[in-house]
Amino acid sequence: MRVTPRTILYTGKGGVGKTSVATATALACARSGLRTIVMSTDPAHSLADSLDVPLDAKPLEVEPNLFAQQVQANEEMERHWSAVQSWLTELLSDRGLERITAEELTVPPGFDELFALLQIKDHHDSGLYDVIIVDCAPTGETLRLLSFPDVAQWWIEKVFPWERRLISAARPVAKAFLDIPLPDKAVYNEVERLVGSLVAMNDILRDHKNTSLRLVMTPDKMVISEAMRTFTYLSLYGYLTDAVVVNRLFPEETAEGYFASWREAQQENLVSVRDSFSPVPVRTAPYFDEEVIGEAMLTRLGDVLFEDGAEASEVLFDTIIQEIVIEDDSAHMLLSLPFVEKGDIGLNKIGLEVVVRVGDQKRTIMLPNSMTGFKPNGARVEDGRLRIEFERTERAAEAIS
Ligand SMILES: Nc1ncnc2c1ncn2[C@@H]1O[C@H](COP(=O)(O)OP(=O)(O)OP(=O)(O)O)[C@@H](O)[C@H]1O
Ligand SMILES: [Mg+2]
Repeated sequence: MRVTPRTILYTGKGGVGKTSVATATALACARSGLRTIVMSTDPAHSLADSLDVPLDAKPLEVEPNLFAQQVQANEEMERHWSAVQSWLTELLSDRGLERITAEELTVPPGFDELFALLQIKDHHDSGLYDVIIVDCAPTGETLRLLSFPDVAQWWIEKVFPWERRLISAARPVAKAFLDIPLPDKAVYNEVERLVGSLVAMNDILRDHKNTSLRLVMTPDKMVISEAMRTFTYLSLYGYLTDAVVVNRLFPEETAEGYFASWREAQQENLVSVRDSFSPVPVRTAPYFDEEVIGEAMLTRLGDVLFEDGAEASEVLFDTIIQEIVIEDDSAHMLLSLPFVEKGDIGLNKIGLEVVVRVGDQKRTIMLPNSMTGFKPNGARVEDGRLRIEFERTERAAEAIS
């Protein structure tokens, strides 16, 4: 039994095969003797369809060593957020908002999935599982929410005790003169507990020895672009991507006939995936002749992706190859590329896309939104990594004039 469970999160655009790949991975792990849980945080809940068994909000053992769970976001919300929610509802409906609208406003976007993801922490604490596989909702946006605990932790240590004391001192006065309900102890306790859980979750997610994300995509241009963007964000938050899965590749047999040109385009796109993500391992799965539903098909999918269950649960790659440091007027990116040794370096930025060329190798990187105003102004090799410098365009314009 592992001391710290191995946690793998699958994310990617809608419909690319996240649930299928996550479930296939879980099944492979379970069969290699690892106690495995696969959970979905997606309200659409196709995990039960994929496994072809009914599931519940609590983990159910669906075959030896394999547990599955469809986390109910509203139940988790109740558990973590009910005091805050009733306080905010009271506050907002006092201000003339319809109660229903007020109730909706008290749950910030993305929070439902966030609460669902907190189950990961519960499974870590329980010591029941060797492997935790998470089938995330399409956007991966929630992972962004989990990247803020550094700020939250500071707030809770420095500001919270003061604020709390002030509020309790002001309560009798405020009650008499203001018409707003002040948060009570239960609200504070809840927020404090939540921040504690988020900090713990962040530690779990940034533990590169035990936790990684895997990006699932189909070999289509738009899907790949989005996966590249997600990859950039994950790197920015310090989350490790240890593999990329390209799913639903048209097989050899389709090289002629109606799907021939599709296959050709897919093969080209596959090359661009390898160029854009290497040295992160790229695993592929064919477009099967039937849907991936039930044990037999999940086994087929697992077999093409991994040597065996032990391998499926390994950390397949252990480095964050892309690092971005953003300062006021400048930024730089460090890239660990396999081909960084020699050759002329070329840089080109179109919108948020930067194309880096080293010799005859080309790689496209998606910049985060916060770098809209930056343009690249040089690159060099430093300690075996490619360092690209950026500066704010306003300044760049000033410098030229
Ligand atoms: N390699 C494959 N060959 C054939 N069908 C596949 C393959 N992978 C997935 N499918 C099928 O494609 C559909 C979508 O797959 P899946 O539900 O796993 O995607 P998803 O990314 O989880 O979707 P969503 O974003 O809606 O949650 C399902 O019907 C699944 O059985
Ligand atoms: Mg799904």
